[in-house]
Amino acid sequence: KQVKATTGSRAGAKAGKAGNTGKDAKAKATGAAGGLARSYPYYLANRPVAANTDLEVLDKYSGQVATRVAFADAATVRKALVAAYAARPAMAAFPPDARRDVLEHCVRRFGERADELALALCIEAGKPISDARGEVARLIDTFRIAAGEATRIEGEVLELQVSERARGYRGMVKRVPIGACSFITPFNFPLNLVAHKVAPAIAAGCPFVLKPAAKTPVGALIIAEVLAETDLPKGAFSILPCSNEDASQLVEDERIALLSFTGGLVGWELKARAGKKKVTLELGGNAACIVDADPGASLDHVVERLVSGAYYQSGQSCISVQRILVHRELYPKLKRRMKAAVQALRMGDPRDERTFIGPMIDEDAAIRVESWIRAARKAGAKLVAGGGREGNMLAATLVEDVPREADLYRKEVFGPVALLEPFDDFDQALARANDSDFGLQAGVFTASLAHAMRAWDHLEVGGVVVGDVPSFRVDNMPYGGVRDSGLGREGIRSAIEDMTEPRLLVIRG
Ligand code: SIN
Repeated sequence: KQVKATTGSRAGAKAGKAGNTGKDAKAKATGAAGGLARSYPYYLANRPVAANTDLEVLDKYSGQVATRVAFADAATVRKALVAAYAARPAMAAFPPDARRDVLEHCVRRFGERADELALALCIEAGKPISDARGEVARLIDTFRIAAGEATRIEGEVLELQVSERARGYRGMVKRVPIGACSFITPFNFPLNLVAHKVAPAIAAGCPFVLKPAAKTPVGALIIAEVLAETDLPKGAFSILPCSNEDASQLVEDERIALLSFTGGLVGWELKARAGKKKVTLELGGNAACIVDADPGASLDHVVERLVSGAYYQSGQSCISVQRILVHRELYPKLKRRMKAAVQALRMGDPRDERTFIGPMIDEDAAIRVESWIRAARKAGAKLVAGGGREGNMLAATLVEDVPREADLYRKEVFGPVALLEPFDDFDQALARANDSDFGLQAGVFTASLAHAMRAWDHLEVGGVVVGDVPSFRVDNMPYGGVRDSGLGREGIRSAIEDMTEPRLLVIRG
C-alpha cells in the first residue's frame, strides 16, 4: 500500500513483504549518491522495518515523488509504546558517559553525512540549500550540546535543619529520568526540531517514540539510522511516520510520562487529551520586531537582518519576523530599502545556491497565505512588494497599513510575508508588539539601554532579542512561548529538566 503525503489518503497496492526487518531494510535506506534513497524503513524498538505500507515523499519543488518511507500502522505504534515503556529501567541504568558516547557518535556521523542530510532537507522540505546546510550545522550543535549535558545532570544538597524538629536530618535531591516520552515534530525543521526532542531524551535517559511530519519524514529516519548504529538499550527509540489518527496513542497512552509537541494550535487539543502526562508545547507565533528611532546599527544592517528574519525558508519558521514596528522618523527610508531588498530576493529551485525563496511546503499553504493577503488588501492594506503566487511558490511579500483585526496581522502567517507599521513612541511599540494572542520571541533594534531593558521587562514573550531579529536562536537557549505560543521550554538543558524529575533522599543521623 502507498500513502500519499499530500492527502494522507491510502491508495493502490504495492508488492512488499510485511514486517521485513533488519539487514534488507537497512540496505534500502543507504540511498543513491546525490539523491534520496529508493526508500526508507521506519525504526521500531531500534530496528529498521520496511513495512508493506509506505508513504510518498514529494520533492517540494518539482512535485515529483522523491522517495517512499515505511508507514506504521496502529499496531506498530502500540508495539513501540510497549517497547519504550519496557526500556525505562535499561535506559535509566545506561550510564551518563555511555549516553554521552551515543550523542558524540551522532555528532560524528552527522558531520560525515552532512551533504546527504542537507540534500534530503532541500528535497523533502523545499528548503534552499544554504538554509539546509545551516540546519545540518544546528543539528550537530544540538547533539553536541546534549553530549555535554549528559554528564552534567546535577542534584542539590538541602539544608533541612530549619528548626529543632529537623535536627540531624540531611536532604539530597537527584534528578531521575521521567520515563517513556512521545514526540511529535513539524515539517519546517525536519532535522533540528527532531534533534531538540531526541538528543535531550538520550541525555536524560528516557526511551521515546517519535512521529515525524508526514510531509518531511526523511530527516528523522536518517537520524534513526545513525541511532541504530549505537548500543542504546533495546526499545530505547522508535521513529515512526504514521497517521495522525494512529498517533493519538502517543497522546493518550497512560504509559507515556511526557508528550512534547511542536506544531500548530492543535497542540492545545492534544494537551486536553493527554491525561496525567506532562506536556510541553511549542506552537509558533507572529513575531514582532521593533526598530527604534536610533536602532543602534546602520539601516542597511537592520534591513538585511529583517529581510533574512522575515523570508528565510519562506517564512516557515515559528520565529520568523511577521510584524515590523518602525519609528515614524525612520519609516519612509526603511520602507524604501526594505522594498528594494525584498524585490531583489531570488526565487526558484532550492538546489540552486543563489535561491533565497524556495517553495512553500504545499500549494494549500501558499493559497492560504495568498488569501490572507487578499483579504487584508480588501480591508485597506497596501502592497509594498511581492504578492504573486504560482503553485506553491509565493513571492516574498511586504505589506503596510494592515488592519489589526486581519488574519495577516493576528494569526501566524508561516509564509514569506512581513507587515510594516509605524509608531511614535517606544511604549506604544511595546503595546503593539504585545497586541497578539502569541508570545514566542520578539526583536528590538535600539541604541538605548533603557529601552532594551524596558522591552525585556514588558514584552510578553518567551525571549527578547536586542540588536537582532526574533528569528535568532542558538540551540542551548531556553526556547518557548507564553499565551497561545505554548507551554514549557526547549533548548537542551530546559528539555532535560522536563524529561527528568527530582527525587529526594532524606537521611536521619
Ligand atoms: C521553529 O520554527 O519552531 C523553530 C525555529 C528555530 O529553531 O530556529
